Amino acid sequence: MTSRTQKTVYRKNYTPPSFLANTVDLTFDLDPSQTRVTAKTELIHNPQSKSTDIVLYGEDLELVGILLNGRKLAAGEYALENGLLRITKAPEVTRLEIETLICPDKNTTLMGLYLSNGNFFTQCEAEGFRKITYFPDRPDVMAKYTVTLKANKKQFPVLLSNGNLVEEGALPRGRHYAKWEDPFNKPSYLFAIVAGKLVCQEETFTLASGRKVLLQVWVEKGNLDKTAHAMESLKHSIRWDEERYGLELDLDRFMIVAVGDFNMGAMENKGLNIFNTRYVLANPRIATDVDYANIESVVGHEYFHNWTGNRVTCRDWFQLSLKEGLTVFRDQEFSADRIGTKDGRAVKRIEDVRTLRQHQFPEDAGAMAHPVRPDSYEEINNFYTVTIYEKGAEVVRMYQTLLGREGFRKGMDLYFQRHDGQAVTCSDFLAAMADANKQDLTQFENWYSQAGTPRVKLRTRYNKKAQSLSLTLSQSCPPTPEQAKKRPFLIPFAFGLLDAKGKSMVVNSHDVTVRKKLADAPSGTALVQLTRKSQTITLTGVPEKPVISALRNFSAPVILEYDQSDEELALLLSADPDAFNRWDAGQRLALRHLLRLTHAVQHKEALELPSTLVEAYRSVLANDSLDPAFQALALTLPSEIMIAEEMKEIDPQAIVQARHFMLQTLSHSLQDEWLKTYQTIRIPAPYSPEPDNAGKRSLRNLALSYLMEGDDKKLMQLAVTQYDNADNMTDRMAALTALTHAGNLTSKKMAERCLRHFYREFRLEALVIDKWFALQATSPENGAPEMRKLADHPAFTLKNPNRARSLVFGFCMNNMAQFHATDGSGYDFWAENILELDRINPQIAARLSRALTQYNRFKPELKKRARKTLKHIASRKLSRDTGEIINKILA
Ligand code: ARG
Ligand code: ZN
Repeated sequence: MTSRTQKTVYRKNYTPPSFLANTVDLTFDLDPSQTRVTAKTELIHNPQSKSTDIVLYGEDLELVGILLNGRKLAAGEYALENGLLRITKAPEVTRLEIETLICPDKNTTLMGLYLSNGNFFTQCEAEGFRKITYFPDRPDVMAKYTVTLKANKKQFPVLLSNGNLVEEGALPRGRHYAKWEDPFNKPSYLFAIVAGKLVCQEETFTLASGRKVLLQVWVEKGNLDKTAHAMESLKHSIRWDEERYGLELDLDRFMIVAVGDFNMGAMENKGLNIFNTRYVLANPRIATDVDYANIESVVGHEYFHNWTGNRVTCRDWFQLSLKEGLTVFRDQEFSADRIGTKDGRAVKRIEDVRTLRQHQFPEDAGAMAHPVRPDSYEEINNFYTVTIYEKGAEVVRMYQTLLGREGFRKGMDLYFQRHDGQAVTCSDFLAAMADANKQDLTQFENWYSQAGTPRVKLRTRYNKKAQSLSLTLSQSCPPTPEQAKKRPFLIPFAFGLLDAKGKSMVVNSHDVTVRKKLADAPSGTALVQLTRKSQTITLTGVPEKPVISALRNFSAPVILEYDQSDEELALLLSADPDAFNRWDAGQRLALRHLLRLTHAVQHKEALELPSTLVEAYRSVLANDSLDPAFQALALTLPSEIMIAEEMKEIDPQAIVQARHFMLQTLSHSLQDEWLKTYQTIRIPAPYSPEPDNAGKRSLRNLALSYLMEGDDKKLMQLAVTQYDNADNMTDRMAALTALTHAGNLTSKKMAERCLRHFYREFRLEALVIDKWFALQATSPENGAPEMRKLADHPAFTLKNPNRARSLVFGFCMNNMAQFHATDGSGYDFWAENILELDRINPQIAARLSRALTQYNRFKPELKKRARKTLKHIASRKLSRDTGEIINKILA
């Protein structure tokens, strides 16, 4: 790979490593202000490389000395510059012993070895290991690790690393040590240590094979009452991977550790997963239903990485989606299977597609658009994106849609059979899927190489006399940075037909496969493989003009362009046997009117909502045969961002006003129904986060939020009562959110009292205080001045990523009208925080910088103001992380 002296790293420049590592023996003398690291590595020349130089990466290290095969190297015997240590013409077999000093307590980047609340943690993915010692820090160098940790026993009673504990004991002067051995080969990014005052919940668990393993969840002392759900989730994950993929836990011991300062969600270090506290800690008092579900899915995600990521890893970081897309797909399927209610799998599918549309579609349409397998990067940490993760998961899902569940499983089996213990590429995965199913998937490769969201346009023609229906499907993909022209994608397009009464019709054609085994499809669903720019299929024996249910279960990550009338959409919403498309029909109906209303706001025209929409919503609400979780999703309006995505020129204030009008209208027109829903849904006590109850709560709390839209004191009182009486965070938070976001004077006064109470009640629970900040940051009432006041609150700090995200990201990413205030105050607040964060934690600053990736799609006055702010930021000295984002936005 390339040295970090070059600004841009290219995929096409990949070269195999010159030396491979056999074993790594690390010793840490842990001390917060100065930790001594001794790394003994056995390197062996790689026959696939022409170079005989050893290339080691290092960052922020003080080099004490190097021994090569036992002999101390003089300063002239190696070159050290720009984070690269090079030893030219090294022997075939080289034993290196390198001693470095590092300063964990000055490390605010939360990469490498750092401190959080006095305890030691590491984060090495993607390139954090080089902040620990000089090393061939690239994923295609895999080795067996032995780790010895030494530290003061009182201050750091617990010493953890990957694999198995093989030795521990006392040392002089109040110190102690522990020695860990990981039996599996791994790349350096999966290395981890933890040291400090921690306690654990532990359990012996029996695998399907009968083998017993030790499971542990480690937290700070006060949090031992919040680990049960993570432990349950871990056990369910282990079972699910055995059952669905025949994959067994390969270690005797599996640990999860929670840390309060963490850049991302969690990390799959071999046998020692490190998690943001947000994805571990839960009890009814502090966690919402959504928190519980997120914990289960992240615990699953990291556990599933043990096979998809660790046993088989990535050759280079351009292949990141090989492990992330696949593992997200696996965690999505795990969560879907776990729900277990009537429409459970569809509910999960809807939530995942919503995330994709809300976050990934905008990314794919903006300055940071990149292929699932990028061609270049400046800073790899900027490529842990929704495209790599969520679009990557959609790409994996399409294999399953095309090959069926069994075919997909065959592909997975072949993938492990071929590549266990290797570092491989996305093409290797594709080849395993193709070969296992004897299919030609060459064209599928375009999903990896081309950025941008494809558009599929559908036109239909019904011929009554011939009783035939023709569907013309044409695809296109807009240009993205560095990719002007696109080749057609292989698109699995699932659809079905409904008659005028909403009954399924039979699909007859030679051109389509009617798949009985199509995963998650109701009977009568047909699958077409689109391969060309445009193709027409003809269906015969169609007795009446049907209503088409297109792109069932969202069979491909595309934007469907198909005009259907309000009546047709309403029919689909009430009758489509595909639950995903039922939901989507409602969304398309609402979105159409939201766009029309936005236009009306801009042109100062009268605002009105047609009765088709109100009635469609009324019947969803009245239909108690539906899964409440599904009803809640169907009755939630498309977000402001989704409206913006459909506009040529984005007008944030008009969008917010239009959406608010629609909420108010639905609140008034359906007030009796909302009230009835609110009052009649009964949820068994005591609180349990299981999906059946959570679904009921989400519908009940949606009803509450609609009721708050009218400025009615009696109704407001419902929320206050719910807040006061709640025995769980879901209901408490929902009531408080409804009050703070209702945006009228009555609710405001009531909200203030509850907000004060909330802070006092939960001041010792960091994750709840994050909620308190986020709630105010996203309130449509609050603008930049209120944000500044909140940032001055003693509990606020930019140093903790969760806290920074709650307030600053909450405002800049989820408070559209206020962030894009025409006076530019929101942009100024954004810029100040980016610059301040960039000195503390470049990764987080770079994330925040993405808030304006689509700035040039906003209305002219905002665009001008945004550009000025961006230029101001660009004129400062920036980290590589933030510099890459800001410059790409401005390019
Ligand atoms: N591999 C981790 C996960 O998705 C993400 C870690 C990324 N960390 C980072 N600093 N880029 O589970
Ligand atoms: Zn992951």
